[in-house]
Amino acid sequence: MMIDRELNKYLPKRGKLARAMRYSVFAGGKRFRPLLCVLTAKALGRSPRQVLPIAAAIEMLHTFTLIHDDLPAMDNSDLRRGKLACHKKYNEALAILAGDALNTLAFEILAKQSKNAAVIAEIGKAIVAVIEGQIMDMESEKRRINLRRLYAIHSKKTAALLAACVRASAVQLKASPKQLSALTNYARHLGLAFQIADDILDATATAKRLGKPVRADIKKGFPSVVGIVKSQRLAQREKESAIRALKMFDQKANPLRELAEFVVARES
Ligand code: IPE
Ligand code: IPE
Ligand code: MG
Ligand code: MG
Ligand code: MG
Repeated sequence: MMIDRELNKYLPKRGKLARAMRYSVFAGGKRFRPLLCVLTAKALGRSPRQVLPIAAAIEMLHTFTLIHDDLPAMDNSDLRRGKLACHKKYNEALAILAGDALNTLAFEILAKQSKNAAVIAEIGKAIVAVIEGQIMDMESEKRRINLRRLYAIHSKKTAALLAACVRASAVQLKASPKQLSALTNYARHLGLAFQIADDILDATATAKRLGKPVRADIKKGFPSVVGIVKSQRLAQREKESAIRALKMFDQKANPLRELAEFVVARES
């Protein structure tokens, strides 16, 4: 796949650190964020090739957040993408450092390839939001949270990075302010739908299907606060808002519309 070739190009080749970084990056994720970058370029009528470095950098950042999310200090998950979590395959120290290295390498790629400070700033800001979201997520284990707080957590821990995919790609391709704001709106709703669906799958699917432990977030996900049925309804609502946000775009944005449908219909 196009994106795997791009990732391979930038990842270090030899040594312990390279091995751990590559293990997690190539463990078999859905590549949802790179796809979002590519489909943003298509919606704007541009070649996806121009956003491939952004797509690769964001997938590295996403992988870094997953490696750290699985650590004993966080979700304490042993399985990721159908394989042992990085800290189980190797050890905690190497998993922490592989995450650090993916985070840093992503910005090296962005600096060299995008040559656009606004693109780099978008992504940097989003990663800080993701980290804040992870802190809010961990705090929510200790006390009961309401729906409003849950939306705030999901906006940060998940939607912020999806928004960065479309924003960084659109800024790189010099989209108009109106296009940028419509795409941002789309991605924020898409991100909420994505994480509500993740919570529903956590509560309902099997570990085999998801490639990660289930019932991990059973006490703090959407189903625990509003139940499965309402969670499904809220995910649908976010999907519809996402699609509505694209109304200024022509049929070149249809794949983005289909992506929103996929997010709520997905089974893994
Ligand atoms: C998992 O993301 C973490 C969330 C934000 C829900 P994905 O479901 O995209 O995981 P991979 O990349 O396919 O492994
Ligand atoms: C993780 O959310 C979000 C980030 C890594 C930023 P989850 O903890 O729900 O992700 P999974 O379910 O382990 O993939
Ligand atoms: Mg988590
Ligand atoms: Mg987790
Ligand atoms: Mg989850």
